[in-house]
Amino acid sequence: MKVDILLGLQWGDEGKGKVVDVLTPRYDAVARFQGGPNAGHTLEFDGKKYVLRSIPSGIFQKDQINIIGNGVVLDPVLFQEEAQALEASGKDLRKVLKISRKVHLILPTHRLLDAANEKAKGAAKIGTTGKGIGPTYTDKVSRNGLRLGNMEHGDLSAYQAARDRHLSILASMGEHPDITELEAKWLDAVKYILTYDLIDSEYFINGLLNQGKSILCEGAQGTLLDVDFGSYPFVTSSNTISAGACCGLGVAPNKIGEVFGIFKAYCTRVGSGPFPTELHDETGKKIRDLGHEYGAVTGRERRCGWIDLVALKYAIMINGVTQLIMMKSDVLDTFPEIRACVAYEIDGKQVDTFPFTVDDSRIKPVYVNLPGWLTDMTQFKEESQFPKQFSDYIKFLEQQLGVPITIVSIGPDRQQTIVRK
Ligand code: GDP
Ligand code: IMO
Ligand code: MG
Repeated sequence: MKVDILLGLQWGDEGKGKVVDVLTPRYDAVARFQGGPNAGHTLEFDGKKYVLRSIPSGIFQKDQINIIGNGVVLDPVLFQEEAQALEASGKDLRKVLKISRKVHLILPTHRLLDAANEKAKGAAKIGTTGKGIGPTYTDKVSRNGLRLGNMEHGDLSAYQAARDRHLSILASMGEHPDITELEAKWLDAVKYILTYDLIDSEYFINGLLNQGKSILCEGAQGTLLDVDFGSYPFVTSSNTISAGACCGLGVAPNKIGEVFGIFKAYCTRVGSGPFPTELHDETGKKIRDLGHEYGAVTGRERRCGWIDLVALKYAIMINGVTQLIMMKSDVLDTFPEIRACVAYEIDGKQVDTFPFTVDDSRIKPVYVNLPGWLTDMTQFKEESQFPKQFSDYIKFLEQQLGVPITIVSIGPDRQQTIVRK
């Protein structure tokens, strides 16, 4: 068997959580391969809304196994909160959740470093989620990281060494925090995690594949936030692309099957950084209001704009997308005209590639205008109900992007999902 991968093609928040939940019944296991609690994946069903940060979005279906892979960075305190909330709702988490002992741990001092780094950058700040993601991945790559497996046998020396190193960096930045309480809570939370089934996830996952089991890999963030290919330096600190699933789970490239690329019918971004099709006008505000475009966890306002096909084509190329999933189509139900950016004009020249420097002040998006469908689609059950203008919009996108759109989402609920024949 092969693994399928579902990942975001824009700047995150495309609706990955919803679709992973919807697709999980097709699989035996779901695995997160990168990112950490910077993610906020929302699921809605039976009139209730859930937000997941580190736990895979397959967790609400039946008995599928959910795996937190080695590429993830885990904050024990936030994990404990998330897990205990699920347990309180009646889920027998320990039966279905497995955690790689190779995950890197986010320390309280990583979060403090994240904040101090942002403060030091001043106006050039990234606008991170403040969860310690950058400092934790930095430690991993510089070979100073602390892995969950290091904590299994009660030896705190690796933790203490990392903590002391962080405190001296913070001191050099003028910060002298008292971490006594944070540390006590963190150490308790580590004990809590250690009550879960820790696995060598690369053996576990390849073992499942060898037994003929199917696995869905769940991306976090989005391609335009990838540390190599995103709008650097305004990116996250991991590889959010399909190749990230290989490194983040120990799955070989020839074991990848379908790659589901998920995008919104428009575009959003949260935090700083370029966004060529951003709308600063009433239309942008209308998208934000109708799409409830506020961060799933932080509540931060998301910046909104038209769909950017230059960026989407780039993302499709890098990920090897085989199927597209379009989200939040319903948000555009009341727009008389929809716009799609098909090229960038940079210094008077038209380009259709994503440039090295994405500089909003030099990029003028070239738009194609399409008629809106002016129809409430939120109660639709099948594709045959789509108004002609919406079907034409899908056709236009498929022709531009060269990949079929196989699922269309018309609302936040599980049920509001149309699988195209
Ligand atoms: P993720 O990080 O990719 O999982 O996405 P988020 O959960 O951060 O943000 C997506 C938001 O859109 C959530 O509030 C979802 O409940 C909501 N959502 C998902 N699909 C749809 C849809 O088709 N229509 C509408 N109106 N909302 C949707
Ligand atoms: P999901 O999985 C949207 C953004 C932050 C910031 C940049 C770096 O829910 O789609 P970080 O804390 O990772 O160092 O922040 O990346 N960012 C996200 N934006 N959705 C996310 O996750 C994000 N995770 C990080 O806003 O601009
Ligand atoms: Mg999100």
